[in-house]
Amino acid sequence: MSIDALFKPFDFKALHLPNRTVMAPMTRSFSPGGVATEDVAAYYARRAKNEVGLIITEGTGVARPASLNDPNIPRFHGEDELKAWKRVVDAVHAEGGLIAPQLWHVGAVRTRDPEWTPPGPYDSPSGLSSPGKTFGVGMTDAEVADAISAFARAAKDAKALGFDAIELHGAHGYLIDQFFWEGVNKRDDVFGGPTIAERSRFAAEILKAVRKEVGADYPVIIRISQWKQQDFTARLAETEADLQTWLGTLVDAGADILHCSQRRFWEPEFEGSDLNFAGWAKKLTGVPTITVGSVGLSGDFIGAFGGEGSQPASLDELLKRLDRGDFDLVAIGRALLQDPEWVTKVHQGRNDDLKDWTAEALRVLA
Ligand SMILES: Cc1cc2nc3c(=O)[nH]c(=O)nc-3n(C[C@H](O)[C@H](O)[C@H](O)COP(=O)(O)O)c2cc1C
Repeated sequence: MSIDALFKPFDFKALHLPNRTVMAPMTRSFSPGGVATEDVAAYYARRAKNEVGLIITEGTGVARPASLNDPNIPRFHGEDELKAWKRVVDAVHAEGGLIAPQLWHVGAVRTRDPEWTPPGPYDSPSGLSSPGKTFGVGMTDAEVADAISAFARAAKDAKALGFDAIELHGAHGYLIDQFFWEGVNKRDDVFGGPTIAERSRFAAEILKAVRKEVGADYPVIIRISQWKQQDFTARLAETEADLQTWLGTLVDAGADILHCSQRRFWEPEFEGSDLNFAGWAKKLTGVPTITVGSVGLSGDFIGAFGGEGSQPASLDELLKRLDRGDFDLVAIGRALLQDPEWVTKVHQGRNDDLKDWTAEALRVLA
């Protein structure tokens, strides 16, 4: 099957991508003290040099004391931290690439190193890390307001540093997603309630605050998922109507592009149609969407965290869906972590040169 669909330009607002490939955000924990290093800049620049359309950085923490669960994940606040990000942006631009930071707050999530604790209390909607599991206390009104403005400040800084877009991490059971999730959002104020529209209020307020800072033309992406790291089977929208309400709220609040996270892109979202999550999101909202999940690899990324390897897999199914317009962009995670040249190799038809995924790739910033 022709790979042309993957190499058509994509134009949206101020974003002009040479092709449809996106580097998926991947936490690497190679930024000691929360400051991205020259090696981090070079790592992203290598992907830019090799035709990645848009690089979305690893999650980077907004200015709340416990926005990150690991001191080696880069922060997105503070003078040294932002200077370091400027070096990353410049390195990517020097190779002709485009880059967006993934703005992140982990919420009520255990630290990776049990010996390390964040320099302040955990934030969460209701003091739960998963349904029924207490973890700290719920945020006060003032803390919620401060978290919203922390995201907005980060977006403003991203634009000032020269990033080409921003992505909000609203997926995978982290803070924004904890507000979406009925199982852990038990608030009885305006940020909680029995409907997905009510529980989307936190995300919507962030999007509005971000939009106010960056202006109408600056591309704002939000990453969302039905699944949670705390529960792979969790679903925020069981019906098309709920999905429409949820995503409609985000788009109305200022989201331009929906990055729809799945573990396997080919899995249908609802019975009776082969459309995946990104396919439904585009159909219901009309805004551009990004798909992701096991593109070009045989196994999924949760298995990868357990040490499983994967082999290169055909792109035909993906290309068919992209070609018929199910979604606009395709995010690639592990294949690009493993091999900075993945996009170039695919473009040149060098399929025999594509690499296996190995868990060793996680240990180096190659
Ligand atoms: C090492 C690693 C780190 C990840 N970190 C993040 C992250 O910071 N933010 C995020 O939204 N997703 C993160 N993910 C999920 C990826 O963005 C992507 O959705 C997932 O790997 C599926 O894509 P793949 O099958 O192409 O690898 C991570 C995945 C991996 C493998």
